[in-house]
Amino acid sequence: MAVKVVVGAQWGDEGKGKIIDILASQADLVIRSQGGNNAGHTIEVNGDVYKLHLIPSGILYPNKQCVIGYGVVIDPKVLISEIDGLKSRNITCDNLKIDPRAHVIMPWHIVLDELSEKARGSSDIGTTKKGIGPCYMDKAERTGIRIYDLINPDILTKKIKLHGEKKNKIIQKVYEEEPINLDEVIENYINYGKILKKYVADTFLTIHESIKHDKSVLFEGAQGTLLDIDVGTYPFVTSSHPTSSGACVGSGVGPTLIDEVVGVVKAYTTRVGKGPFPTELCNELGQEIRKNGNEFGTTTGRARRVGWFDAVIVKHAVRVNGLTSLAINKLDVLSGIEKLKICVAYKLADGTITQEFPPVLEDLEGCTPIYEEFEGFDEDISRCKSFYRLPESCKQYLSRISALCGCDIDIVGVGPGRDQSLYCK
Ligand code: IMP
Ligand code: MG
Repeated sequence: MAVKVVVGAQWGDEGKGKIIDILASQADLVIRSQGGNNAGHTIEVNGDVYKLHLIPSGILYPNKQCVIGYGVVIDPKVLISEIDGLKSRNITCDNLKIDPRAHVIMPWHIVLDELSEKARGSSDIGTTKKGIGPCYMDKAERTGIRIYDLINPDILTKKIKLHGEKKNKIIQKVYEEEPINLDEVIENYINYGKILKKYVADTFLTIHESIKHDKSVLFEGAQGTLLDIDVGTYPFVTSSHPTSSGACVGSGVGPTLIDEVVGVVKAYTTRVGKGPFPTELCNELGQEIRKNGNEFGTTTGRARRVGWFDAVIVKHAVRVNGLTSLAINKLDVLSGIEKLKICVAYKLADGTITQEFPPVLEDLEGCTPIYEEFEGFDEDISRCKSFYRLPESCKQYLSRISALCGCDIDIVGVGPGRDQSLYCK
């Protein structure tokens, strides 16, 4: 039995939910270890669509243990409504465990996310405004409120008063906005704690017991490698590590325990929010791909920016994550496009050509992508049942991606359904 990590190898929204859903069928334990409800995973099961933000997708199968590890930041109101939403569709969350060390998103995190974005003006990051960054800031500053505090009303009350008052000063004095009513926060959060208490457990032990007993363990990544706070397009990134190392840090599993790392990509590239995007298509073709691929955010509904497949960033992701295979989604969306392009290198502002991902934004911003061109395909491949029956031009496109990125492709997605995945081995 294996320990597998699934990560996004672009800027998020690669369709990780779908791949995790497939792999979860063989897993005993499914773990979220970073990010928060900035994530949105859409999964289609027999025509029913589920949108999950915090709970691991494994919850859609009965009898899978699901864990929210301590690297995740949790908005308790969102988590409770997600639990209730699943219950109303007859999906039980009895086998969900939440780590007491996970940090809690407080109302001031959401308010401050919004206010600091506004203050950045035209250089805003384009965050999801869910309070993710401000919550991780408090975690790093060591003033965060954790799930353990949430389920202990006395500690919670004290901490809300202490930290809430300081946050209100910032809201009033720096941003000149109305303070948050802390009594209301105390009442609501004590109540959230009561509801969530039964799910709280030392998930470190759950995970290590499973590994010890040779169970199959799956890490469900959120966001994507290029949104990593260190190796991504800083400062246009999220505040966590959506990489395989982030899975280790956010759950308490050492790197030697991991057997496989699957990187999920789309057959093209998308990104939401601001920041450089070398292969972006700001034309009719971009709009067509957006429409055909339904590229609108699960979490914010924002139109996603669309562009050609960028092998430079995916090669970067292959190394950063130590990917053992790629899963490539939404190949069907490219049907009907006469010529397909893959970015194989960048020409930097000073004329240098590089196949490496530039370490700083200043270099990346001025670069022009260099493309290889491929024959497109016209066939509707969404009902294709075997990799070998894909049109020849599709196979050539995929095989070039694999060679450029230096990683085998194991799964090809040709539609949103559980049965619309082709296996290359
Ligand atoms: P934050 O995570 O809300 O702070 O947003 C920071 C950046 O990450 C913004 O560009 C967001 O659009 C992006 N982002 C955060 N979560 C996701 C995700 O799940 N998919 C795609 N982009 C995301
Ligand atoms: Mg998403």
